[in-house]
Amino acid sequence: MTATNQTAVARATPADKAGEPILSVQDLSKVFRQGVLGRGGFPALKGVDLSVGRGTVFGLLGPNGAGKTTLVKILLGLVRGYGGTARVFGRPPKQANVRRRIGYLPEAHRMPVYLTGRQVMLLFGMLSGTPRALVEKRIDPLLERMNILDAADRKVREYSKGMQQRLGLAQALIHQPDLLFLDEPTDGVDPVGRMVIRTVVQELRAAGTTIFINSHLLMEVEMICDSVVIMDKGRILREGTIAELTPRTGRVLFDLVGEQEELPTLLSGLGANLHVHTLSDSTALELSVEGAEQDLVIDRLRSAGIGIRAVTPRRTSLEEAFVDLVEGTQQ
Ligand SMILES: Nc1ncnc2c1ncn2[C@@H]1O[C@H](COP(=O)(O)OP(=O)(O)OP(=O)(O)O)[C@@H](O)[C@H]1O
Ligand SMILES: [Mg+2]
Repeated sequence: MTATNQTAVARATPADKAGEPILSVQDLSKVFRQGVLGRGGFPALKGVDLSVGRGTVFGLLGPNGAGKTTLVKILLGLVRGYGGTARVFGRPPKQANVRRRIGYLPEAHRMPVYLTGRQVMLLFGMLSGTPRALVEKRIDPLLERMNILDAADRKVREYSKGMQQRLGLAQALIHQPDLLFLDEPTDGVDPVGRMVIRTVVQELRAAGTTIFINSHLLMEVEMICDSVVIMDKGRILREGTIAELTPRTGRVLFDLVGEQEELPTLLSGLGANLHVHTLSDSTALELSVEGAEQDLVIDRLRSAGIGIRAVTPRRTSLEEAFVDLVEGTQQ
């Protein structure tokens, strides 16, 4: 949702300098009070430092309860009473001219169900302070982009979960924000819709928008994020680019044509930790090989008349890196 109900649209602020991170937090901490008397408290964030560069797609990952939504809400000025520093466009998040430039798709959001999709767009567009004529002009293209234009005049209560999520993303874009927060954007969305969302994110990045994504769907994060932070229990465990977090394993995957039963014999003495996975018309062979040894494997496969469709260095998947990291801290 647009994070403001102010009028007037401010764009560049004096602090909005090239090269400066679009958002940053230093030593950020948040303790939620617990119980009616508010005695004690639950530390949701325990000294988090991060910064996000302009025009990037940034992924914040972590298991349930890690503190992701709390961090986003602080950056949106929705959670107060925190320790440390938070800056968005170089300014404290609660400043209205900061929030006007931000789009927000909340986790498990609820749209007013008695409105139509078009009315929801108009409502959030007006709340963002964008002139009505401009909002009206943008509604149809955005709904079209999210593949829900044909439902524009139906009430939100009749929308499926995935349609509501698409509408949620469309409304977050109505004021053309410079910075977009998406909390679990593909929740409940079917594979085609997820691809549409990924494409929209890539188009927005190409146009210079910065996108901050909270997600549990690590394969998607791997596909669209430039850099990620993995956090758990209020602390950052790891940060880096996708390439840094998914290093090569030293293993190589061979995609071979046809069923190949004899590979262990054929490759005896070459490579280590051989894994063979045979399907009806192809075989996946995975093994640890060094450079020159890889050529020998290829030579043996070719001289046995085996077709090679692809040879790919195997990287750790983001999911593997995530599980290793989070499980590693729980022992
Ligand atoms: N308003 C609140 N009052 C008390 N505790 C809260 C409040 N909001 C969050 N918490 C606690 O802070 C911790 C972090 O919650 P948060 O919603 O930030 O997690 P998350 O990483 O977004 O998790 P999820 O993946 O489930 O969305 C949790 O233990 C949660 O119970
Ligand atoms: Mg959350």
